[in-house]
Amino acid sequence: MNDVNKNSYAVFGNPIEHSRSPDIHQQFAEQLKQAMNYQRQLVALGEFEVSARAFFDSEGAGLNITVPFKLDAYQFADQLSERARRAGAVNTLINKGGIIVGDNTDGCGLLADLQSNLQWPIERANILVLGAGGAVRGILEPLLLAKPASIVIANRTLEKAEQLSRAFQPLANDAGCELSAKQYDELTEPFDIIINGTSASLSGDTLPLANECFNGACCYDMMYAKGPTPFLQLAAKQGARKIADGLGMLVEQAAESFRLWRNVKPDTHAVIQSIRNSL
Ligand code: ATR
Repeated sequence: MNDVNKNSYAVFGNPIEHSRSPDIHQQFAEQLKQAMNYQRQLVALGEFEVSARAFFDSEGAGLNITVPFKLDAYQFADQLSERARRAGAVNTLINKGGIIVGDNTDGCGLLADLQSNLQWPIERANILVLGAGGAVRGILEPLLLAKPASIVIANRTLEKAEQLSRAFQPLANDAGCELSAKQYDELTEPFDIIINGTSASLSGDTLPLANECFNGACCYDMMYAKGPTPFLQLAAKQGARKIADGLGMLVEQAAESFRLWRNVKPDTHAVIQSIRNSL
């Protein structure tokens, strides 16, 4: 093993050119005065396993995994952390002496942003989670561990929300949290926190939510953009108390990946600001 490869990290995805991860990890490494070589790698669809194998065969130290390969990474890993198993997806691979461990830092990144950066209290809160895809599956365990009073999972396709609700029911019981699944048009009550984990805005759609849901709510979009996302614009218009996009989550999940690789957690505040300024 040579020193260059021991320092070799990458993010695999498709598309990948807009990924901010190399910039974020470079800033972490500089802050901690560590050497780090972190690249973007465009991986062809169907080629994840071959590419990841080649990366680790040449002693690569760690990978971040983004859309659409988080399930492939889950299958690729030799071992899985408990939170990756529950999330059903892997966004971080760690080379531990040739054993490739899969972890998932997305949910932990969201919680760090909500609780430490934004200071939105989760404990005893009534939370509405929008969407029931992979992104939402990854955040339910850490949300439940923070002991909210209730979580409603709402989704266009009710069946997917119901499946998630069933899968996480035992954890919800342990947390004393009321967990349920609903369709958008069933929602008429206000919430303390609303988290958008859908990809509706990618197709320019807004979610058919009643105005009452937003009244006084803190609204979070797991996506981020230069200005407020369409969901956050809607939330602000309908009376949300606070709004925030997912840039903080992006940097926080990266910081947790960095910790898994390097055993030290970088400071995130300056990095969030720097990435925000560069959008
Ligand atoms: P991801 O891994 O990003 O979560 P996904 O698993 O494809 O991606 O899930 C996308 C989520 O966004 C789903 O909850 C999806 O709703 P459906 O399950 O009903 O498909 C939601 N979504 C995507 N486009 C949407 C739209 N135009 N309106 C409402 N919900 C939408």
